[in-house]
Amino acid sequence: MKSIKEKIDKLREKILRYNYFYHTLDQPIVSDSEYDYFLNKLYDLESKNKKFIDPNSPTQKIGANLITKFQKVVHFSPMLSLENTFNLNGIVEFENRIKRKIDQNCLINFCCELKFDGVAVSLIYEEGVLISASTRGDGYIGENIIDNIRTIESVPLELKGLHIPRKFEVRGEVFMLKSDFKNLNHQFYINNKKLFSNPRNAAAGSLRQLDSKITSERKLRFVCHGYTIFEGMEDFKNHYERLICFSKWGLPVNKEMLICSNQEEIFDFYKKIEKKRYFFNFDIDGIVIKVNSIKLQRKIGCNNKFPRWAIAFKFSSKEEITKLRDVKFQVGRTGAITPVAYFNPIYISGVIIKKASLYNKNEIKKLDLHINDLILVSRSGDVIPKIIGVIKNNRINNFQKIIFPIFCPVCNSKLIENKVDKIVRCPSGLICEAQKQKSIHHFFSKNALNVDGLGPKIVNSLIKKNVVTNIIDFFYLTEIQLKKLDNIKEKKSINIINAILKSRTCSLNRFIYALGIPFVGIVSSAKIAKYFKNIYRLINATILELNSINGIGKVVGNNIFNYFSNSSNRQLVINLAQKMNFFEIKEKKIKDKTFLHKKIVLTGKFNFLSRRKMVKKLIGLGAEVSNTVSKNTDLVIYGQKKGKNKFDRARELKIKIISEEEFNLLIR
Ligand code: IVH
Repeated sequence: MKSIKEKIDKLREKILRYNYFYHTLDQPIVSDSEYDYFLNKLYDLESKNKKFIDPNSPTQKIGANLITKFQKVVHFSPMLSLENTFNLNGIVEFENRIKRKIDQNCLINFCCELKFDGVAVSLIYEEGVLISASTRGDGYIGENIIDNIRTIESVPLELKGLHIPRKFEVRGEVFMLKSDFKNLNHQFYINNKKLFSNPRNAAAGSLRQLDSKITSERKLRFVCHGYTIFEGMEDFKNHYERLICFSKWGLPVNKEMLICSNQEEIFDFYKKIEKKRYFFNFDIDGIVIKVNSIKLQRKIGCNNKFPRWAIAFKFSSKEEITKLRDVKFQVGRTGAITPVAYFNPIYISGVIIKKASLYNKNEIKKLDLHINDLILVSRSGDVIPKIIGVIKNNRINNFQKIIFPIFCPVCNSKLIENKVDKIVRCPSGLICEAQKQKSIHHFFSKNALNVDGLGPKIVNSLIKKNVVTNIIDFFYLTEIQLKKLDNIKEKKSINIINAILKSRTCSLNRFIYALGIPFVGIVSSAKIAKYFKNIYRLINATILELNSINGIGKVVGNNIFNYFSNSSNRQLVINLAQKMNFFEIKEKKIKDKTFLHKKIVLTGKFNFLSRRKMVKKLIGLGAEVSNTVSKNTDLVIYGQKKGKNKFDRARELKIKIISEEEFNLLIR
């Protein structure tokens, strides 16, 4: 185990490396969200372990060290960064912290603005004329980029209007419009030049050119969001008024600003901008919330990295671009071969993602996916990682075709493709090690025999060490054998042995589900158990009998028949059944008859109860839950992102449709 100090050092090293690539070379190697994730992790560790705080830590510094391409410029006051939050709690804490610094009862107005995803610059005007321009650099010393800034049309070389202070500094962002970025990359593509990965990089790369003629060809823009006052400036009462005055002098200020006096208004602005952001022709990555009163800003002050009177409320990205590194082929419990994509890690909605299932052979074809492709990844339903597209115009010549295997990657048997469901399978069943391990794990999993503590790691090491070779062996397992495995102590081994013993008394439903017959899920297992009531009757069932069971489709019926036609499966189930003590699930008297004997189909993602719990609840109320909408369906319940097919079919057949919320009202 790594010590806290080691963890902190590792994170610092990582972030400093990222800083160097981002600020110095204009070539970020991780996405902004991933960078924020590690930086926040470091903040967290340092704030809980104050003795390790170090002035050289990236949490104490802004930007990166400079390479000496340009002349250095010392900033009159440090160019600070902004504290980040991704949720409303961060805003609540921000306000509470402010309230601790000032009179609790004082009403605070906040100026909310867009957070431009650009390059921070400082401009100095003297007697209304632009005399200096610099990058942020390390926050204290920047680079002199005046020649390049002068080429940007939206930066006024001379201000116009009244009461312009003798000398003052304007701070803002240089950025590139999305449309200009696209055109630039198109040109670069034609000329075989390395493409920019986003408008921010294009702006940074274009601004830090030694030849300002190149900058002038790049269509950069400027927007201003801050200032430092020098001599002779009329002191405005608030930030908003100042920005409006700047725009009158000819400095570009974005109009999407709003004065808010509470968290609700701030959140409404955030949501409005989050929706609108895709329609802007420039990138933003959140909103910035600033205390509007200049007097209060001064009272609240700054630390050495952030002003305490401002915070960035960032959008948590739901999609990220990354590079596909490899595709590996996994063998599932039922022998299905699933391609899994491995890519450079990205951070989406709070977690780091490195891989995503590609489901089947067809998906690779549909996406036209190649190794080394730039891919767009999201989390479907905000949970499961999914590749949603390939950025094909970014392909350089190192992309490679993905070759689907012909032989099982684990047992080397020849694979078979099912022409109907298009799934490629290894036909070797439990002879294939991968299928054996997964079937055993499934047998003891939560919805099956529910043996707590017997996860895939333990199952695999027991098989590897030859302690067990099949499911039956688990019923003879001893504490001594378990304790020989890594990380298993006395208490855990006793708990596992007791859980295995307890699991031998279970319902027939769970036992049938535990067998892992393809497509025999929790619902069909319950139907089959209810029909046969006895495992030996099921083992000997004919195909006709199986196909006549209400609610059991042809595929499930055939799969069960095929499973028991295999003599080693029959023998395994007979041996297992002798070890088991089945109890019957007593049918509860159902008082509420609303859903009794109703055939119900669920579609979409449910918020109130998980889909599994919805099914359980409905079965408990005497309903039958099935997957397909037919003329026999009585009711369709839909959640978010409902399936179009099921919904449209239900409408077509004039079947009653209710929402999850309506269902919740009915069962209250
Ligand atoms: S105010 C004292 N307002 O975001 C720092 N910054 O991630 C006050 N940025 O360093 C900055 N849009 O370069 C401010 N509306 C906005 C901004 C903004 C973009 C940049 C700025 C800052 C960085 C922090």
